[in-house]
Amino acid sequence: MAEQTKKWRIVAVRRLSEAQLGSLSEVAEVDYFEDVDESNRADFMAALSKAHGLIGGKLELNEAMLAKAPGLQVVSTISVGYDHLPLEALNRRGILLCNTPDVLTETTADTAFALIMATQRRLVELANLVRDGGWRTHIRPEYFGIDVHGKTLGIVGAGRIGAAIARRGALGFGMPILYTAASSKPALEQQLGAQRRELNDLLAEADIVCLSVPYNSDTHHLIDADALARMKPTASLINIARGKVVDEPALIEALHSGGIRAAGLDVFAEEPLPANSPLAAMNNVVTTPHIGSATHETREAMAQLAVDNLLGALTGSGPLNAVNE
Ligand code: DGY
Repeated sequence: MAEQTKKWRIVAVRRLSEAQLGSLSEVAEVDYFEDVDESNRADFMAALSKAHGLIGGKLELNEAMLAKAPGLQVVSTISVGYDHLPLEALNRRGILLCNTPDVLTETTADTAFALIMATQRRLVELANLVRDGGWRTHIRPEYFGIDVHGKTLGIVGAGRIGAAIARRGALGFGMPILYTAASSKPALEQQLGAQRRELNDLLAEADIVCLSVPYNSDTHHLIDADALARMKPTASLINIARGKVVDEPALIEALHSGGIRAAGLDVFAEEPLPANSPLAAMNNVVTTPHIGSATHETREAMAQLAVDNLLGALTGSGPLNAVNE
């Protein structure tokens, strides 16, 4: 396409394929940054100051940066979560925010189930035992795990991802499902026999508590010392939501003291998880590095949806997923 027909400038950060960058380049001047750090922050800001659209994963953006980007019309994040972005400031400036729901639902539910299986059956701890030459005789009860099938699965936040986790539990593992949600979910109740509970009741009844709520001021430290104390000492906590939904020091204390049995964590208050975090060293904790949606297929689909959102918003055909329209 001829240079003069390119009405827009786009800044792209991380996770876009050649083809995706190509389709953006057909309609816009694109400044692509594989990463933004101290070495290229000034270049990034210079590009942003002229941009109409910004697209990327793990975007770092704040009010001061937006003030230097007067032409910015659309931010297209390659994530379903947008708690890392300054929504109020975007709203004030009339900047559209788009995200990537749906395409990562099943993969993120798979991640939750991987953590459930690993935590209940102590997969990482026992794999390490084999790797370290510690398997010298038949496995004794001190290494036994806990069944997954038939256990009660409590889903805190039965949105799209929570519902996908519930389906796996009910249909694949015969698990009774409890859930919290702002309103009841007839489909989950009819198809899976799921039952809605208040959070405190769910915490007291579930054998496995799985967090799949968005992070916001209402869910900050939703799982604190009091909440953990309501859980059974035999129960496990799985977090694929956001780290700050859990009061991490309280969780560490509950795991140390036997307040709860185990945790499977994909997200942390600080990411990357500091190497000296007790969570990284505890045998009853399985940690993964925020890989909820991190498969080739799903990351590709998320990036494509973010591209479609951005182009739809800029060209006027409409974004597929606007957060603040
Ligand atoms: C999301 O999409 O929000 C996932 O947590 C990946 O960042």
